[in-house]
Amino acid sequence: MTDLSPADAAQPVVSPLTSAAMFLVLTVEDGGEDAVREVVPDLSGYARAVGFGHPEAELACVTGFGSAAWDRLFGGPRPAELHPFVALDGPQHAAPSTPGDILLHLRGQHLDVCYDFAANILTRLGGAVKVVDEVHGFRYYDRRDLLGFVDGTENPEGSEAVAAALVDAERDPEFVGGSYVIVQKYLHDMSAWNTLSDQEQALVIGRTKAGNVQLPDAALPKTSHVARNTIVGADGQEQDILRANMPFGSFREGEVGTYFIGYCATPTTTEQMLRNMFLGDAEGNRDRILDFSTAVTGSLFFVPPTSFLDDPPPAPGQDVPAADPVPAETPRPTDSPRPADGSLGIGSLRS
Ligand code: HEM
Repeated sequence: MTDLSPADAAQPVVSPLTSAAMFLVLTVEDGGEDAVREVVPDLSGYARAVGFGHPEAELACVTGFGSAAWDRLFGGPRPAELHPFVALDGPQHAAPSTPGDILLHLRGQHLDVCYDFAANILTRLGGAVKVVDEVHGFRYYDRRDLLGFVDGTENPEGSEAVAAALVDAERDPEFVGGSYVIVQKYLHDMSAWNTLSDQEQALVIGRTKAGNVQLPDAALPKTSHVARNTIVGADGQEQDILRANMPFGSFREGEVGTYFIGYCATPTTTEQMLRNMFLGDAEGNRDRILDFSTAVTGSLFFVPPTSFLDDPPPAPGQDVPAADPVPAETPRPTDSPRPADGSLGIGSLRS
């Protein structure tokens, strides 16, 4: 439990938009746990060291851990809602769950600082980890996706971004300032997309292409990306996530797409959006963006507060026992000799 506010306790989850990003998904090799735990407290120091000489680059590094990795790496309390990414198998489109123990989300105004940070960390980690996915994202004109639409307009800002993305004391007192992040790599079928007119594309996204204006409610198809992702909670309030998507492209690999990354104070909001997109509603309205873009990866991570990274708990099974409030010389009820049968003497299963 910390006295800090979620915003002060957090890693740089809520941070300014940048022109470059690197997404690294790692798995921890068997036996690599100790090496990883040793590097974790140095993450903030490395970010400071790389960023210090280049303040204009605004390097920000966010580190998250997957559910299985958390249990291998850390003893002590567990984030209340951490679980593996839930794969979805819809009638037409699937969202696969793919391996991922550690996420490094590196942002900067140029890629060099992201690269240097990654090089430092990966050298330190050596054979303890395997890089299973790596995407270098770039800003495309006025923050457009490669589909040509501005991406990120309706992101929450300021205190709304903090409330949407960060865990507060009411939700989980042990992890104030933490965040649940879901990442998915989407590959676009640009040839199919380019057969649509701008007006047809606007109906798929739910906003105009050139002007970036949301279509009026009467003209907004239920299958549009905006409609599928506008969700309202039981309190009537819109439920937000904080997105930091980036376009990427490789001609050699023939892969162009969007790296989706969504932070939220609870995974359930992003999961609901994904169900709306992939499984659709009772009337069969699914997200038409999926007719042109395929999810090829999917992982969920918990991003702990900075203090957790700087001073991680001991390995599982090596937790330091809580200080014993009872003075040693005071006899305790459990100090009385155990029954000869080795039981606690509080009952018997035998009749
Ligand atoms: C191919 C992948 C994706 C692309 C290209 C994409 C692109 C876009 C674009 C262009 C917009 C409209 C402008 C804006 O407000 O940002 C948008 C809105 C949005 N997207 Fe996505 N997106 C993708 C995947 C996802 C996924 C997987 C989720 C959630 C799990 C998501 C959640 C949202 C939300 C919440 C909005 C704002 C809706 C509103 O309130 O208007 N997106 N996206």
